[in-house]
Amino acid sequence: MTTLTDHEPRRAATRTDAVVLDGVTKTYKSKAGQVDALRGITHAFASSTFTAVMGPSGSGKSTLLQCAAGLDRPTKGKVIVAGTDLAKLNEVALTTMRRSTMGFVFQSYNLLPALTVFDNVALPLRLAGKRPSRGEVLATLAQVGLDGHHGRRPAELSGGQQQRVAIARALIARPQVVFADEPTGALDRTTSHQVLDLLRTSVDEQGHTIAMVTHDPVAASYAHSVIFLEDGRLVGSLQHGSASQIAAMMSELER
Ligand SMILES: Nc1ncnc2c1ncn2[C@@H]1O[C@H](COP(=O)(O)OP(=O)(O)OP(=O)(O)O)[C@@H](O)[C@H]1O
Ligand SMILES: [Mg+2]
Repeated sequence: MTTLTDHEPRRAATRTDAVVLDGVTKTYKSKAGQVDALRGITHAFASSTFTAVMGPSGSGKSTLLQCAAGLDRPTKGKVIVAGTDLAKLNEVALTTMRRSTMGFVFQSYNLLPALTVFDNVALPLRLAGKRPSRGEVLATLAQVGLDGHHGRRPAELSGGQQQRVAIARALIARPQVVFADEPTGALDRTTSHQVLDLLRTSVDEQGHTIAMVTHDPVAASYAHSVIFLEDGRLVGSLQHGSASQIAAMMSELER
């Protein structure tokens, strides 16, 4: 087990890194004052790996994901996704890049209620200007265990089924990286297991890359590695940790 002071050493970025954060700092300024949400994060998310991002509430997990996905710009430092420095892209290019290289899964599913399951899953391809084939959409739905559900609307599905639609939507364009923020936060244990198993399988069998924020050590144990944030800093990491090892690390941080 890695200790808090002995976390993964810095290493040069390689071509097999899907996402690299290099000295990423994010400072929010408001009337109430300044918040240092991220204070110099350096980390490489290797391709075809599943990484969990953990840390106490307010430690900067969502901010890290937002910066890594180019949804928010760092105050300082660099974010490189699939070899491209996001700072070099204007908003239009960034949006295009996001559509072609990134997938997103959120706690609240974020499906479009007026669209069928089929059309929700096909949407990223349509937004990227492609014409999705029926077979491709149905195969992706089958992959997440939702054969036969393509004609329904999100409201006609359970929470776990809706999250699996969101995962199908995130995977269909074969993105270089999928960002997931508390994807099982609204699900019960059994349904969470199905969703996490699906995420892990998509990495192990299809070579996807996933960065997942979670506060649940059991959820994090599905990942290959876990990185721990505290107060905007990367303070530790764990490879192939069990839920109890991860929980022990978390309670050490929360002391
Ligand atoms: N848009 C914003 N404007 C100002 N401060 C913000 C903004 N977004 C986040 N923060 C602050 O930045 C810090 C990190 O927030 P962040 O949402 O990244 O935490 P988190 O680790 O995801 O927490 P949680 O587990 O509660 O979701 C917090 O202090 C938060 O209040
Ligand atoms: Mg958050």
